[in-house]
Amino acid sequence: MRARGKKVHIKTYGCQMNVYDSDRMADALAPHGYVQTEDMSDADLIVLNTCHIREKAAEKVYSELGRLKELRARRRAAGSDLMIGVAGCVAQAEGEEIIARAPVVDLVVGPQSYHRLPELIERARTARVVDTEFPQEDKFDHLPPPSTIATATRGLTAFLTVQEGCDKFCTFCVVPYTRGGEVSRPVAKLVAEAERLVGAGVREITLLGQNVNAYHGDGENGETANLAGLLRRLSRINGLERLRYTTSHPRDMDADLIAAHGDLDILMPFLHLPVQTGSDRMLRAMNRRHTSADYLALIDRIRAARPDIALSGDFIVGFPGETDEDFAKTMALIEAVGYAAAFSFKYSPRPGTPAADLPDQVDDRLKAERLAALQDLLAGQQQVFNQAQVGRTLPVLFKREGRKSGQLGGRSPYLQAVHAPGDLSLVGTVQPVEIVAASKNSLLGKIVTSD
Ligand code: SAH
Ligand code: SF4
Ligand code: F3S
Repeated sequence: MRARGKKVHIKTYGCQMNVYDSDRMADALAPHGYVQTEDMSDADLIVLNTCHIREKAAEKVYSELGRLKELRARRRAAGSDLMIGVAGCVAQAEGEEIIARAPVVDLVVGPQSYHRLPELIERARTARVVDTEFPQEDKFDHLPPPSTIATATRGLTAFLTVQEGCDKFCTFCVVPYTRGGEVSRPVAKLVAEAERLVGAGVREITLLGQNVNAYHGDGENGETANLAGLLRRLSRINGLERLRYTTSHPRDMDADLIAAHGDLDILMPFLHLPVQTGSDRMLRAMNRRHTSADYLALIDRIRAARPDIALSGDFIVGFPGETDEDFAKTMALIEAVGYAAAFSFKYSPRPGTPAADLPDQVDDRLKAERLAALQDLLAGQQQVFNQAQVGRTLPVLFKREGRKSGQLGGRSPYLQAVHAPGDLSLVGTVQPVEIVAASKNSLLGKIVTSD
C-alpha cells in the first residue's frame, strides 16, 4: 500500500558522501509517496544525516534533537505528528546510545542500511527501531535510482560514490568504524549511474570514496579496474564535461592515476590530498604510513604529469604528543607545497580510536594557537593562488544565476567560485572567462566572446 502526500526533510551534516547519501535516501523514499521539503516545520518525517568525525560535529546532533523535541510537541498539540530519524555516522557509532539519550528519536539507521529505510519507517510507527548492521546484501543494488526530475533539480554537478569505507585505520579517525571496510562498486554500475546523471543534465561528476584512489572495482571485462581505469571509462560518456574525485590517500596515488592527470582533459587539475602533518614522528603516530619526504616526492611526480594542478589538503593540529618542533615541520611542509585550498582542524579525541587513549594530549589553548597560525598561512596561500589567476582565461562551468542580477556563477577547473556577467542561457555550459579580479573566496571575470 502506498502512503500518499508525505513530506520528508533531510538535514545533512559532514562530508560529501553524506550529501550523496541524503539524495539516495530521498530516492528510496520517493516511491513510497514521500516528497522532499526544505521546510522542517512542514515535514512528516525529519532525518538527520549525521557526522561523527569530531566531537563538535557529533554534538550538533543532540542540540538539533533538542529543538526537534519542541517542534514535535507543537505539532502534537496541533493534532498532527512527526517522525524523527537519525542516520549517518553518529547513528552507526552511537546507535542504542541515541535511543537512550534522545527519547524524541523514533528511528536510528546506519549508512549501510539506507535501502531498508521505507521498511524501517513502517516498523518505527509501532516501536523505536535501530538498524546499524553491516548487511550481506549490497545497499547499492537495492537503492532505487533518482528520477530524471529529481536529478535535474539537484543541479549540474553531482556526486557519485564509487568506493565506501576505509581499511587505513589512522589512529585519530572514526571512519573505519562508522563506514566499515573498503568496498568498491563495479564499473558497469557506475557507468550506468553516470550515464543516467548526464542524461538528466549533469555536466560535472565528482567521484566519492573515503579512500577513493584505493578504488578496485570489477571491470566490464572481468578484470579489476583501478581509479584511473574508471576515470578513463567515464571520460567516454557523451555530454559529460568534467570529472573530479575525492578523497585520496597519498599511499594510493599510483602511477596510472598520476598519468591520468596528464592525459585526461576531462579530469580537472585539482587534487585534494590530505597529509595531516609535516612531522614524521606525528605521521607515524597517526599510522599514515608515509613520511613527509614521500609526500613531497609524490607532489613532484603529480606536478610533473600536470604542471598546473592545484592542491588542497587536510591538517590536524595538536595530535597527542605534538611539540612546537613537530608543528614547525607542518608549517614548513605547507610552505614547501603551496596549497590552493585546505581544511584544518584541532585534534578531537574520538571514543574507540587508539589516539584518544594516548598520553600527552595537547592543551586546547595551544591547539587553538597553532590552528590560527596554520590557517593564516593557508589563507595567504589561497589568496596568492586566486590572485595568480588574474589576467588568465579559464574555462568556467556555469552552474546558476549569480548573486547580482545579470551575473552567472560557476566554477573554475581549480574549484574556485567564478562570477561573470552573462546570459542565463549559458548555464550548463563551459565558457572561456578572462579573470579580472580575485578575492579570498572567489574570482570575477568576463566571458571571452569569439566575435
Ligand atoms: N579519508 C580522508 C578524510 C577523512 S575525514 C583521508 O584519509 O584523509 C576528513 C578529515 O577530518 C581528515 O583528513 C582529518 O584531517 C580530519 N579528522 C579526522 N579525524 C579527526 C579527529 N579525530 N580530529 C580532528 N580532525 C580529524
Ligand atoms: Fe580516516 Fe585515515 Fe581512513 Fe582517511 S584514511 S578515512 S583519515 S582512517
Ligand atoms: Fe563525517 Fe562520516 Fe563523512 S564521520 S566526515 S559523515 S564519513
